[in-house]
Amino acid sequence: MRQIEYKNRIFYIFDDTYLPSDDTFLLLDNLEVNRGDFVLDLGTGCGILGIIAAKNANKVILTDISPIAVNCAKKNVELNKLTDMIEIRTGNLFDPIRNDEKYDLILFNPPYLPISGNNKQNEWLERAWDGGETGREIIDKFLIQFNNYLKRKGRVQMIQTSLSDYEKTIDFLKARDFSVKIKARKKFFFEELVLLTVQK
Ligand SMILES: C[S@@+](CC[C@H](N)C(=O)[O-])C[C@H]1O[C@@H](n2cnc3c(N)ncnc32)[C@H](O)[C@@H]1O
Repeated sequence: MRQIEYKNRIFYIFDDTYLPSDDTFLLLDNLEVNRGDFVLDLGTGCGILGIIAAKNANKVILTDISPIAVNCAKKNVELNKLTDMIEIRTGNLFDPIRNDEKYDLILFNPPYLPISGNNKQNEWLERAWDGGETGREIIDKFLIQFNNYLKRKGRVQMIQTSLSDYEKTIDFLKARDFSVKIKARKKFFFEELVLLTVQK
C-alpha cells in the first residue's frame, strides 16, 4: 500500500488500485465544484476526486467497478472524516445509480488506453486503463448514458487523451448540442491529455 498527500489530505492507495497520476492531477487542479453541488465521481479509484470535491459539494457519490478500489475509497473517506457526506457504491458505469438520481456535476477519469487482446494478468488493476481495442470502449458507453443522470444545467468534467482520439468525444457531444470546452491540457511526447468541461 502507498500513501500520497494532496491539499493537506492523506490518501492510502491499496495495491491493485489506480495510483493517482497526471490525468488525476489535471482534473484535481481544475475542479469546478459549485457550493452545494450534488457530485458523482464515477470510476473513483482511491476516491481522491470525490473527496477533494466534497469541500464545496453538498453530497458526493463515489462508484467503481472494482471492489478493491471501492474498499480503498471507503478507507480514504473514513480517514478524511467524510462518511456523513460521501456514499460509496460498486458497479459498472451507471448501474449503481437510480434512474431518478440527477447530478450537478459528474467527474470521470476513464480507462482510455487502446489495449489489444483480453489476457489480463491483474484484472482489477488493468481495468483502470484498459479501454479495449480503440481505447474508447468505456468512454463511448459513458457518452450515451451520462445525460440521463444530469440535472437541467448539469456539467461533466472528464479526462480524454489523444491516444483514444478525444476529437471523437468532442464531435459526439457537439452533434448533440452540448457545450464542450477544453478546460486544461497537458502534453507529453507521446500523448496529449485534455480535460473537457461539458454542459447541457
Ligand atoms: C484511470 S482510473 C481513475 C481513478 C481515479 N478516479 C483517479 O482519477 O485517480 C479509472 C477507474 O475507473 C474504474 N473503472 C473501469 N471501468 C469501469 C466501469 N465500467 N464502471 C465503473 N468504473 C470503472 C477503474 O476500476 C479505475 O478505478
